[in-house]
Amino acid sequence: MAQRAIASLPLREATDFGDRQFGAALVNVTNICNLSCSHCFVFRADNPNRPKDKMDDATMLSQLKALRDRHGIRSMLFMGGEPMIRKKLVLEAIELFESGSIVTNGTYGIPSVPGHLVTVSLDGPEPLNDAIRGQGVFQKVRESVFARDASDGTIVMLQMTITKQNAPGIEEFVETVKDWPITGVAFTFYVPSRDDHGSLAWDDLRERDVVVRRVIAVKEKYPRLVKSNTGALEMMLSDRCLEFTGERGESCLMRNMLPLYMGDGGNFERTFCCYGNDVDCARCGAYAVFNSAFHHRAGTPVPEPGQE
Ligand SMILES: C[S@@+](CC[C@H](N)C(=O)[O-])C[C@H]1O[C@@H](n2cnc3c(N)ncnc32)[C@H](O)[C@@H]1O
Ligand code: SF4
Ligand code: SF4
Repeated sequence: MAQRAIASLPLREATDFGDRQFGAALVNVTNICNLSCSHCFVFRADNPNRPKDKMDDATMLSQLKALRDRHGIRSMLFMGGEPMIRKKLVLEAIELFESGSIVTNGTYGIPSVPGHLVTVSLDGPEPLNDAIRGQGVFQKVRESVFARDASDGTIVMLQMTITKQNAPGIEEFVETVKDWPITGVAFTFYVPSRDDHGSLAWDDLRERDVVVRRVIAVKEKYPRLVKSNTGALEMMLSDRCLEFTGERGESCLMRNMLPLYMGDGGNFERTFCCYGNDVDCARCGAYAVFNSAFHHRAGTPVPEPGQE
């Protein structure tokens, strides 16, 4: 009886974000996560991130469809929290968009989504990864990657988010995973909040430059495996990065993406950018920011993920 009453509730109107067109968007389908990674921006105090805020499957699907049509969204990135906690919903919702991808922590298995990209987060070789993501996580993710049907047509990339803490492991990480059944390895760098002067963030970006150059070197060594664009990485160097971010995101092309966070009462809420509300743009390490700027400058389309 209770089930019936819930099913017959009218669907809520899609959240009003005005009429602006957004070719791409990101949706946090849940605020819940089974891990508590030390670098995670999602659960920062300034973000709408209370796990109690929920949106049932039917409402979320109808909201996503309405927002797609209103804003011309062609590409949707599914995130969380951990999106695979709502796997059934994500597999249905991904088909609403011309292009869809999932970023997952890989501990619930790797979803089979032929033709789509699944990015699996691993933050370095086992000891460095597990110091960030939790004991035993590296092996769990490895098992998931090897258990999948590698011929199912899903594009599977590993992504390492580089912080000051795990930076020593870049080369060893690539050596460890180079023969795994994956499409490639991607790197992105830490996005700190404004008051973040802890052990993860670089205060002086000239120190980060040394690490960026090491990523360029692994790209040179493994050009097919490492899906990074050297030109974009060079734009991240300290003497020019501000040109592509701005002190407060004013030059950042990623702000053309609509970030949909789960807000109060099961509504969507928009944050300042995909990385939430409290971000230090002058120290932003999001690879996608510099890759978008690179292609914008070159007048070329940003390649489909995994195609660098
Ligand atoms: C927030 S998680 C959500 C999806 C999923 N739970 C996962 O871990 O892949 C998405 C990606 O953001 C990265 N990330 C988390 N905090 C970050 C930060 N402060 N700066 C840059 N990337 C970050 C994670 O490492 C992960 O690759
Ligand atoms: S698994 Fe993803 S969402 Fe969960 S804490 Fe880690 S980075 Fe954040
Ligand atoms: S933190 Fe990075 S992605 Fe977010 S607006 Fe600033 S420069 Fe852009």
